[in-house]
Amino acid sequence: MLLSDYLIKKQEKLKKLKISEYKIKSEMIIENELSVSKKQIYFSKIFLSDYQLSALDENFDKLELDFPVQHIIEKTFFYECEFFTPSKVFIPRAETEILVDKVHDYIEKKKNKLKIVDLCTGSGCIVLSLAKKNPEHDFIGLDSSIDAINVSKINSEKLKVVNVNFKKENAFEYDFKNVDIITCNPPYLAINEIETLENSVKNHDPLDALTDHYDGLLFYKFLVNNFEKIVNKGGTIFFEIPSSDVTNKIFDILSENNKVKYEIFKDFEGNNRVIRIY
Ligand SMILES: C[S@@+](CC[C@H](N)C(=O)[O-])C[C@H]1O[C@@H](n2cnc3c(N)ncnc32)[C@H](O)[C@@H]1O
Repeated sequence: MLLSDYLIKKQEKLKKLKISEYKIKSEMIIENELSVSKKQIYFSKIFLSDYQLSALDENFDKLELDFPVQHIIEKTFFYECEFFTPSKVFIPRAETEILVDKVHDYIEKKKNKLKIVDLCTGSGCIVLSLAKKNPEHDFIGLDSSIDAINVSKINSEKLKVVNVNFKKENAFEYDFKNVDIITCNPPYLAINEIETLENSVKNHDPLDALTDHYDGLLFYKFLVNNFEKIVNKGGTIFFEIPSSDVTNKIFDILSENNKVKYEIFKDFEGNNRVIRIY
């Protein structure tokens, strides 16, 4: 069978099933499975072997069930690197790149060796992106999920990053000693928001990565109210916030605490996205 015929057939089915962004997702599957470029997909005459057909079918069956494409191909491009993202691990989102950028700008100006802890590290996308660009500092990545820690260790090997230690730890129980900077993209949805999510998110991103099983604010309260206990004097914490009604509640937590100052960074769509407390 010709790849072009196969693709037309699959895309018609995906369209009928109302799979969002089905064109780009099907191209990603084909590029990954056949190691061809987008140009080759559309402009070369490619015949599919039986082996290739069954491998592609297996991937497209998952796409038809609305599995996230980053879990199907087990890859996500984030910041400057490609990360291994099998099922069971949170898929890095493009908006989190703002957090990496802001922390990197901050670190770059520092002369002394720093200890930086990334809470809720998931695939390790934040901490590994930072550690790769800042090899002179020490980094730790923590997550309560053993699946996340196993995946982040694989990513660390793949990217040849040697200055990050990954540990399976509950962030609320971690012994913060001599920490200069904390970074965190926490599970920030309230438990009752989960039902409202798209199927491709609620059925595939781990529940513990999406919600704190309460009001979505537990991590923010913890980071703000324990600031002086968990970072060194002169230290700082960067965290991502959702662009939703919850944002105002996070500002309430900040204004109720008179010990921390903060600055806000916006994402490319103009939404408040990252807060640095100091
Ligand atoms: C929104 S994901 C962020 C993952 C990654 N940092 C990113 O930005 O793509 C949140 C992560 O927090 C982890 N997590 C949830 N509760 C935790 C806890 N109490 N302590 C440590 N990690 C936790 C989840 O397992 C998940 O990997």
